[in-house]
Order: sequence, then C-alpha cells, then structure tokens
Amino acid sequence: MSLLQMEQVSHRYGSQRFLSRQTERTVLQDVTLTLEAGTCLGLLGRSGAGKSTLGRILLGLERPTAGRVLFEGQDIYRTTANDYRQDIQVVFQDSFAAVNPKMTAGQIIAEPLTNFTRLAPDALQHRLVTLIEQVGLTRADLAKYPNQFSGGQLQRICIARAIATNPKLIILDEAVSSLDMVNKALILALLGELKDKYDLSYLFITHDLQAAQALSDRFVILDQGQIVGEYPTRKAFVDATDPHVLAIKNAMLATHPRYRTIRK
Ligand SMILES: Nc1ncnc2c1ncn2[C@@H]1O[C@H](COP(=O)(O)OP(=O)(O)OP(=O)(O)O)[C@@H](O)[C@H]1O
Ligand SMILES: [Mg+2]
Repeated sequence: MSLLQMEQVSHRYGSQRFLSRQTERTVLQDVTLTLEAGTCLGLLGRSGAGKSTLGRILLGLERPTAGRVLFEGQDIYRTTANDYRQDIQVVFQDSFAAVNPKMTAGQIIAEPLTNFTRLAPDALQHRLVTLIEQVGLTRADLAKYPNQFSGGQLQRICIARAIATNPKLIILDEAVSSLDMVNKALILALLGELKDKYDLSYLFITHDLQAAQALSDRFVILDQGQIVGEYPTRKAFVDATDPHVLAIKNAMLATHPRYRTIRK
C-alpha cells in the first residue's frame, strides 16, 4: 500500500462576482499520483499551475471537487478519524509569515506537541532541546523570538516544528525558494538527513528543477492543473529536449546573469 494516493483529483475555485454570473476556475484536473513511504516526490510546475492547491488538499484544508485522496489507504475526506492530521505536516516558503512573532522558538516548536501529545513539562523541554539541536540550532535559541533569527534559521525552526510529532509525510511548499544559494544547499542537506534518519516522506513542491533533483527520488510536472510528465530518480539524466522540463527551466532565471536570456 502506498503512503499517499491521489486518484483523479480535480478542483475548481468558484468566485461570486457582483452583478455578473458566477465564474468557476478549474485549477486541478484528474490528478493521479502516488507517493511511497520513505521517498521524496517532487512536484514541479510554473506559477499558478495548482501546486499549492494540491498541497492544501492533502493537508485537508481544501476539499477537492472530485476524486479521492488516500493516506495509508484511508480516504481523508470520507473518514471521521483525524489521526492522519498528525501524520502530515507542512513547511511553507515564507517562514516569517508561518510563525507568530510574539512566540519564542520554543513555543513555536511546542505547538504541535501540545496539540497532539500529552508530554509532562520535563519531557516536553527535553524534546524541544533535541528538536532544535537536530535542525542545527542550540538550546539557547529556544528562548529567542522570530525577529532574532535569519530567514534560514527561522526555516530551521519551522522544520523542527514540522518534525516534532514524528509525522510520516511533510509537504514542503517552496520551502527553500526564498533562501540564498548557500542556505538553500544547507537546508536541502538538512532535509535529506532528516528524511533518512526518521524515514520521512516528502512532497517537495517547487519551481526549481535543480532543488527538485537534489532532494527528490522522482518528480512530476504539473501544468495548468494537469500532470504532464513523470521523471524517475534524482540523479538520472532528465531529457533536455522534453518541452515540459524546458518550460520549467525557462520559467526560472538562470543563476548567473551570463546565462540569462531575455525572452520575448
Ligand atoms: N482560494 C482561492 N480562490 C480562488 N482562486 C485561487 C485560490 N487559490 C488559488 N487560486 C488560483 O488557482 C490557481 C492555482 O493556484 P496555486 O496557488 O495552487 O498555484 P501554484 O502552482 O502554487 O503557484 P505558485 O508557484 O505561484 O505558488 C491560480 O490561478 C490561483 O490564482
Ligand atoms: Mg504555490
């Protein structure tokens, strides 16, 4: 049994315009994909392709208009059991927006632990120290506030919060996209280590082909709400003539200005 299966998932957003007909937009169309436990599936696509919508559907935040989402064989939109919520966590792109500025790092990381577990104060403190050290920060950092951290450090705190409840799946929605090259490489390495150590599975949402190849075992490309390509293994050669791969590459600016071309 796969950890996660999406079967023919479609989604439409409706909008009620004043004095005009209701318009509906299909943002996902018959999306079928599977994610095996212990692997990282990259989900690539240009801006507006529907990637975050797909992530929100997996998190139970957006009910799909059609199709099924099975987590460990259980349809998450047809079950009353809520235990899968603890098993699926998320890390977003904007770490500053993802945390409460009035909470310390310790309080931020403790939030899912107090929601989902009943740890005694001593055990909770011990767990917080383990978690913050695991993401490369120190126990002294637990008392600091978000504005005392860099973007890369705060993203580490968001990762510590995501792994706090020992989830099975973490959705990384552009989790390294706003980091500089050095921090991006460091966070990708950290995510790789944590995945191996805790046997985690990732859905790695990104528009960055290089980052996807660095972390993913395989990836799919989503274009205008549809899966248009599926590619194996992170290090394998990806056909440079594939139009969907080229579209992703062209949508990104080359890192060095010398390799940038102005497209008309
Ligand atoms: N709550 C919403 N209501 C209506 N339309 C929405 C809503 N959220 C997203 N959309 C629209 O759905 C489409 C897909 O959006 P989505 O955020 O899933 O794309 P994305 O692939 O994550 O893009 P990006 O790479 O820019 O984050 C977009 O056209 C967007 O405008
Ligand atoms: Mg998005």
